[in-house]
Amino acid sequence: MHNLLNGNAIISLRDTTKVYSSGATSVHALQRINLEVGRGEWVAVTGPSGGGKSTLLQILGCLDRPTSGTYRLNQRDVSRLSNDDLALMRLKHIGFVFQSFHLLPRLPVIDNVELPLIYANMGKAKRRELAIQALTRVRLENRLDHNPLQLSGGERQRVAIARALVNDPELLLADEPTGNLDSNTGAEILSLFQELHRAGKTILLVTHDASIAASTQRIIRLKDGGIVEDTFLEREKVLA
Ligand SMILES: Nc1ncnc2c1ncn2[C@@H]1O[C@H](COP(=O)(O)OP(=O)(O)OP(=O)(O)O)[C@@H](O)[C@H]1O
Ligand SMILES: [Mg+2]
Repeated sequence: MHNLLNGNAIISLRDTTKVYSSGATSVHALQRINLEVGRGEWVAVTGPSGGGKSTLLQILGCLDRPTSGTYRLNQRDVSRLSNDDLALMRLKHIGFVFQSFHLLPRLPVIDNVELPLIYANMGKAKRRELAIQALTRVRLENRLDHNPLQLSGGERQRVAIARALVNDPELLLADEPTGNLDSNTGAEILSLFQELHRAGKTILLVTHDASIAASTQRIIRLKDGGIVEDTFLEREKVLA
């Protein structure tokens, strides 16, 4: 199926391996992964604990580098970039959402969302404008000056999603974004991702929840650092 991508993959991994070494022990967290994801795909990454899901997402998100093999993001080999160049790739192409939100508790919501744009050296007025746009997209335009600690879990995750969206990345990566939320709030967050998928974002979402995985278009299952299943679901199911 993936040769249909004809070189138009946003993500392309070739024999990608990640080994964590500390002292005498080394963990093979990813073992010769081969994977292509096309622009606009909506993918769930599942599998048992320790299978390599977070490691995979960190490499895809340019938060870490593979030990060997290659990672091409938008056709560019980013496997051996310096930390500074990886940071630039993140600013330009990637939004990352974590299970535990990773907001700065002492900063108002709007400032949390502006942070990536500060790193991008954008001026204050433009930053504000884009942060308000992103917060409107997650329907939190009425919480700009709140502190994250004054928000519910679902609202905190929506702030984190706004922060991930503020640089308008084509690739959105989420590592168990509903893991700390009750099922109703998790469903709200999922429908937000559905909306972003329909708006054209490429999304990879790690989840242990089979019903969340079933609402995407493709399920990749990782076990012991390898892809043991890669299933394309029917498009009709997603739009139903
Ligand atoms: N920074 C690290 N240093 C050493 N080993 C690590 C590190 N991060 C992960 N590992 C190991 O790599 C393997 C894969 O871990 P990873 O966090 O990718 O799994 P996961 O699929 O995300 O699991 P979970 O579902 O529990 O989040 C595990 O054996 C883990 O112990
Ligand atoms: Mg994990």
